[in-house]
Amino acid sequence: MQPQVIKSVQEMRLRSAQLRQSGHRIAFVPTMGYLHEGHLSLVRKARDLADVVVMSIFVNPAQFGPNEDIAAYPRDLARDKRLAASAGTDIIFSPSNAEMYPEGYQTSVLVKDVSQGLCGAFRPGHFEGVATVVAKLFNIVRPHLAVFGEKDAQQAIVIQRMVVDLNMDIDIVVAPIVREHDGLAMSSRNEYLTADERRQAAVLFESLRTAKELIAAGERDVDNVKTAMRTVISKASKSRIQYIEIADSINLKPLGRIAGEFYVLLAVYIGKTRLIDNVKISVPDKNIGQNSH
Ligand code: PAJ
Repeated sequence: MQPQVIKSVQEMRLRSAQLRQSGHRIAFVPTMGYLHEGHLSLVRKARDLADVVVMSIFVNPAQFGPNEDIAAYPRDLARDKRLAASAGTDIIFSPSNAEMYPEGYQTSVLVKDVSQGLCGAFRPGHFEGVATVVAKLFNIVRPHLAVFGEKDAQQAIVIQRMVVDLNMDIDIVVAPIVREHDGLAMSSRNEYLTADERRQAAVLFESLRTAKELIAAGERDVDNVKTAMRTVISKASKSRIQYIEIADSINLKPLGRIAGEFYVLLAVYIGKTRLIDNVKISVPDKNIGQNSH
């Protein structure tokens, strides 16, 4: 069945109120559209956890910087409708900019510390734009739970923090990264890559795999891991590393030495396209065994 498409805030609020009234559990998947398997995996997860799945498709101007080309962001609502339906989306909420940010709009949500490092350091204001639009979408859609992808690990952590800090009664579910056959994380931005760049982009995941292997073999020095990753990435002539970081999985603080549960994260340009990826790793705490004697 084709999903119902709602464009007005008022109509979405009404629909959500009806659904809640009749005892339905609402799951929400916020997106910027140009859907791929990564987005659809979130819809399927949402389907498993609730009765009604609402997806938003909104290319949010507040999260794009002045040098980021929002006009070039790929869009295809007809195709998105088909794909969303195939994965079990019931309602697509796809508002206009004027509907979301009417004249006189002036409020924003700033989640402080976890928005600062990693992508936040290179995209000032980005996570403020994300937190703001997600808070608005939560208030409009009023879901019981919302599903986010671990592909954007920092984003998921920012949203989890916001929900706790602002006492929003919404469960945040984080779903695993969906990858292409060569390991490249699916992304609407992969669309920008030329055929040659697309081949070269495989070095991102290759470098993460290298990090994983080194750590599994006992490497605990952060710089050694980063250096090995740089070597892998530099094989791709069109690559330019923005950051490689190893950070605590809860607060995203960079690790001094490899221990506990953490993310290895990176942002790399392939040509003009900025791609991000990460893997979550945990290493056993050696002290536990020693102390138990
Ligand atoms: P967008 O980039 O469209 O991503 C929508 C959701 O899909 C996010 O939760 C993202 O983490 C998830 N996702 C993207 N690629 C994925 C992959 N390969 N595997 C698993 N999940 C993946 O993220 C945004 O939009 C926006 O910032 C938004 C939250 C909608 C706010 O505007």
